[in-house]
Amino acid sequence: MDTKGSERMIERNVTLDVGSGPYELDVHDSVMGLPGIDIRRLRAQARVVTFDPGFANTAVAKSSITYIDGSTGELRYRGYGIEEIASHSSFIEVAYLLLYGELPTAAELTAWESDISAQTMLNEEMRSFFDAFPRRAHPMAVLNSATSAISTFYDVYRRPTRKREIDAGARTLIAKLPTIAAWAYKKSIGEPYMYPNPDYSYVENFLHMMYARPGRQDRVDPSIVKALDVLLILHADHEMNCSTATVRAVGSSRANMFASVAAGMGALWGPLHGGANQAVIEMLQAIHDDPDATIESTLRRAKDKNDPFRLMGFGHSVYTNYDPRARILASFAEDVLARMERSDPLLDIAQELETAALNDEYFVERKLYPNVDFYSGIIFRALGFPSRMFTVLFAIGRLPGWIAHWIEMTTDPDTRIMRPRQLYVGEPARDYVLLEKR
Ligand code: CMC
Repeated sequence: MDTKGSERMIERNVTLDVGSGPYELDVHDSVMGLPGIDIRRLRAQARVVTFDPGFANTAVAKSSITYIDGSTGELRYRGYGIEEIASHSSFIEVAYLLLYGELPTAAELTAWESDISAQTMLNEEMRSFFDAFPRRAHPMAVLNSATSAISTFYDVYRRPTRKREIDAGARTLIAKLPTIAAWAYKKSIGEPYMYPNPDYSYVENFLHMMYARPGRQDRVDPSIVKALDVLLILHADHEMNCSTATVRAVGSSRANMFASVAAGMGALWGPLHGGANQAVIEMLQAIHDDPDATIESTLRRAKDKNDPFRLMGFGHSVYTNYDPRARILASFAEDVLARMERSDPLLDIAQELETAALNDEYFVERKLYPNVDFYSGIIFRALGFPSRMFTVLFAIGRLPGWIAHWIEMTTDPDTRIMRPRQLYVGEPARDYVLLEKR
């Protein structure tokens, strides 16, 4: 594991004057980004805790995987800028980079690709697992359950401490998730499950299992393969986002990689996180279908604090500037549609919404910009995916990031079981009242 970032020494300290203080607190520097005040001994020394809902101001670990500068809109995997990675790498190469810390050599990449493609098949007993779901089941629910379910075939991976087993678990998950996703989709449309083809690349194989039918061996259009590859790269990691923090939290109890990743999928599904890509398309479609809805009325609703509606695909906990992934996707959406000689009225609505929001005082003041989910759905849709599959695609993309964080967390000597504190604001101590006296 690459630990360059986490080996930086403590460079200075601060004094906190609280209660019976003052207390000296170490400050840990970072390679890029903000330094962090080490409060680990604060509770024991000063008898106070820090209050930080959502951990928005708390670094839960030192990490060497991904760097984000939210104010300038910068995103780097293992130090490499996302723009360069998206232009030159394949998703499976990015998975290697995230997991092992370095770009693979040509020989390493070939070995990695063939290792993964050799394991894409699911145990045949998994067929009955998919059969048991109702057809209307949301594919995220199926993906989540199947991720837990496949761990039952690999008992050996339940001991997460040996490097060989960790590696094997990572490869198994990366190899099999597209098969699970495609089978969840086939189940939902009542078509036969397609088996993986080891001759195809990772992304082509997934598209083959999604769209092929028995007896037909049409190869997928390479431009569609390339477009999905770029989309998966852009989703591959995003440091301590909600689902990754969940993977780390679950893994911190020494739960196995499969259980931790399945929990991360649950977090990803929410509409404020990865579920936003489905919600964006539904929002754009609703504007399109409602003759009374306008760009202005949509923004008015988003700004109205009495209306739970938010402009989906806008805003971000970290970016106070344009999300670099959204910047790539905004022009990529146009390219993909042009290459496919298609148009999509939802792209026009999205562009109008973006222009109006970026010129609206409410969004400007709060520094709300399009995020990765704003344009991704339009491309997923152009590639033939139904909106219920969008968050599944996000999950396939995010999987290497989840695993890289899980590995980093399990091998970090600073890791402790994730166990935040609280400020108790309930009833003070009181006497129990017997049932007959209530
Ligand atoms: N529409 C309208 N107002 C918004 C929006 C939005 N999309 N996002 C934030 N705001 C307002 C919010 O109401 C608050 O206003 P005020 O200061 O008056 O109370 C202010 O902006 C700050 O927002 P916040 O809720 O404190 O910000 P947060 O960091 O807690 O939330 C967020 C971040 C992504 C959950 C939020 O921006 C949001 O709900 N966006 C829509 C859902 C979405 O697109 N999610 C995908 C996120 S990116 C990919 C991913 O993580 O998967």
